[in-house]
Amino acid sequence: MDRTVRWALAAAGCLAMAFLPQGCYQATDAGPRPIVTEGALADVKYAPARRLVSRSCADCHAKDGNNETHKDAWGHAIRLDTYQEWVDGRRVLQERLDPAIAAAQDPPVDAMPQPFFRYQLTDAERDTLLQWIRRDSPNTETGE
Ligand code: HEC
Repeated sequence: MDRTVRWALAAAGCLAMAFLPQGCYQATDAGPRPIVTEGALADVKYAPARRLVSRSCADCHAKDGNNETHKDAWGHAIRLDTYQEWVDGRRVLQERLDPAIAAAQDPPVDAMPQPFFRYQLTDAERDTLLQWIRRDSPNTETGE
């Protein structure tokens, strides 16, 4: 392949990445990695919380998620690897899990996960997490 053609193909690839937000979150130097759906809240006994947060949040907020390799270093965002991190984050977690509260902030913040993310929470699942926060998130099998 001639050098100009190779350059043009590389440039087209970069442009395509720039216009695909989802691709950007999952892109690494080694190419896209699968979305991470496990590993969050590892020491939480309440299985629904562990499962939902792993599925819908771990890719961006837990160890080994794709955020770890994200270039713009928003690694300052809350980590959800452990029960303690969940407990310490309850106020902002409630803000981001309840779309009405997120929208009411000044300025408004994004509800989580953002709409482009593949694994969304249903209303009932959102409620499971919000109710657990309202009960002060006891770390028991029933979450009560
Ligand atoms: C695709 C990536 C992605 C997913 C999935 C995701 N988040 Fe986020 N989250 C972000 C980014 C980026 C920020 C920082 C930008 C902002 O504040 O909106 C953020 C910010 C937050 C914040 C604000 C606190 C802080 O430290 O900045 C909370 C709380 C939060 N996320 C919780 C969650 C929860 C809970 C889930 C799962 C239900 C989730 N996120 C899923 C990317 C993600």
